[in-house]
Order: sequence, then structure tokens, then C-alpha cells
Amino acid sequence: MGQRISKLNDDIALDHDLLKGPRHLTFDEKRILANRVMKKHGVGGVTLHWVNAISWFLLIFTGTALLSASYLQFAPDWYINMMDGIFGTRSAMLHFHIAVGVFWVTTLLLYGIFGYKNYLLDFIKHDLTIDKDDINWFPAKAKNLAGKLSHYQMPAQGTYNAGQKAYAVVVAFSTVTLVITGPIMAFHIGSTTIIQWAMMLHFVATMSVFAGVFVHVYMAALFPEERPAFFSMITGKVNELYAYLHHYKWWKEIKNEEHMFFAEELKKDGIHLPELEQCKNIKDHQAHVYNIEEK
Ligand code: HEM
Repeated sequence: MGQRISKLNDDIALDHDLLKGPRHLTFDEKRILANRVMKKHGVGGVTLHWVNAISWFLLIFTGTALLSASYLQFAPDWYINMMDGIFGTRSAMLHFHIAVGVFWVTTLLLYGIFGYKNYLLDFIKHDLTIDKDDINWFPAKAKNLAGKLSHYQMPAQGTYNAGQKAYAVVVAFSTVTLVITGPIMAFHIGSTTIIQWAMMLHFVATMSVFAGVFVHVYMAALFPEERPAFFSMITGKVNELYAYLHHYKWWKEIKNEEHMFFAEELKKDGIHLPELEQCKNIKDHQAHVYNIEEK
């Protein structure tokens, strides 16, 4: 027991020191953090992401081929011919597009209705809010990519970095637009003018997500530094070294939360670890994340 407490104490002391701000880590500190994991995404979030991503790819593959009138054509002739070959007829392709769209909208609505309180509200209020560090992140990232700024000089980021937040906002607005315009076009709801406006907005919303998806996939799946984020969209977890270096504010919140939990538990056994008890941010954090009012 004594040995376990002193090991815990060592870990807490290290965390407590690191909580004072992102700084250059020693080799040993990196090794310790690299061997610990943190939960980043729940099963609901991971499932929604991949259902959303697969639906988007299917919708974009078919949608671009459906735009074949000369004044609307976007994809090259060979691509449209290939898609015609796969589906046989244009009408089959359109029906497939509508069926995937209905499936996609249903999944989003189910997530929105049942996950509103636990997932969606938290994502909007906690993960997407923008502060000064987010605004400063864009020029800093450009310098970082050019090799002129290290991780430790970058503005500290929360659960998502500013680039990811910006893309998430584009996806959110486009999704709402598509969920409204899709049924208008598919089921011919309203006058010809309304349907024409719906077509235009449908196209603009799709293109804004399409333009960003290349950067999103490159940064999330191919960029070596972000590799742990990619695996987090499968396992739900990231290693703490990545969290510390790339999402310091989020790492800090989770550490404060963990430490407060430990402190409460240890207190019940009459054990006091002063460094644990110094982590007082949990109330702000809970009030912020879970809407718990301080009494
Ligand atoms: C092969 C395709 C894709 C891959 C590999 C991929 C990968 C990822 C990963 C790894 C994350 C988590 C980032 C983190 O936790 O730090 C993420 C988040 C996210 N993805 Fe994807 N994604 C793909 C397709 C898409 C598509 C098609 C969309 C939307 C149309 C999308 C929208 C989002 C959004 C909104 C988030 C949350 C915030 C953000 O990172 O922007 N993803 N994705």
C-alpha cells in the first residue's frame, strides 16, 4: 500500500509540475507520458463519425456524377461514364443517392435527439467554443509547419485545435443546409423557385465540406504528428504525450478532473496528498462542461 501511494505521489507530483504550463519535457517525462492513455472519444462519437464519413463519400461519389447537365457538370466525362456503368441507369444512381441521404439524416437525427444532452451540447459548448489561443493558432501553425516554431511555443489548444474547430463549424452549417435542401429536392417540396434555391444551396454546402475534406483527411490520417488522433477515432484513446503536446488545455482539464477524483477517494481512507488537493479547477470545469451550478 505504502509503495503504491508513493508511486501515485510521484505521478501526481510530475502531473502537478506539468500542469503549470506546457514546457520542454525531459526524455523520462516523455517516456512516462507516452506510456499513459486518455479517453478522447466515446463509442457514440466514433460510430457517428464513421457513419457520417462513409455516408459523405457515397453521397459525394454519386452526387458529383448526377450533376451531368452541361451547365452544371463538375466531374470529368470518364468519371460520369464509369458511375453510369456501375449503376446501370441514372435513376438507379439517384435512388441510391436519396436512400443514403435518408439513412444519413436519420442517423444524425437519432444522434441529435438521444445524444443531445450527453454528446451534442457538450461538443458545441465545450469543444467548439473559440478563444484568443484559437485565433492565434492559425499564424502559429503556419510557422510551425515551416519549422520556425516548436510545439511548446504554439498557443495551447483544447479538445480540438482551431483548424479542426473551423472545419467542424463548416461541416455543421453545411449539414443543416443539406438536411433541409435534400428532402426539398428529392421529394419536390414547394415551388420551382424554392427547388432551384435548394439546388444551389445544396451544391454550395457540399462544396464547402468537399474543399476541406482533403485537408481534414490529410491532417487526420496521413500527417505523421497527428497519427495518434487518427487511432483515437478507432480506439477512442490517445497517449498522454500527444495530448500534452497538441491539446494542452484539454490534457490539463482531464488531469484536474482525475486528481480531484483521486483526492476525494483518498480522503475517505484518511490519506492526504497535498498536490492532489491543490487541483481546484474541477468545479469550473464541471460547471462549464456539465452545467453544474456552484452552490
Ligand atoms: C477517411 C476519411 C476520414 C478520416 C480518416 C477522418 C479522421 C478523423 C479523425 C482522426 C478525427 C479526430 C480528430 C481528433 O480527435 O483530434 C476526426 C474528427 C472529425 N471529422 Fe473526420 N475523418 C474522415 C472523414 C470525415 C468526413 C467526410 C467528415 C465530414 C463530412 C468528417 C468530419 C469530422 C468532424 C466534424 C470531426 C470533429 C472535429 C474535427 O476534427 O474537425 N470527417 N476525423
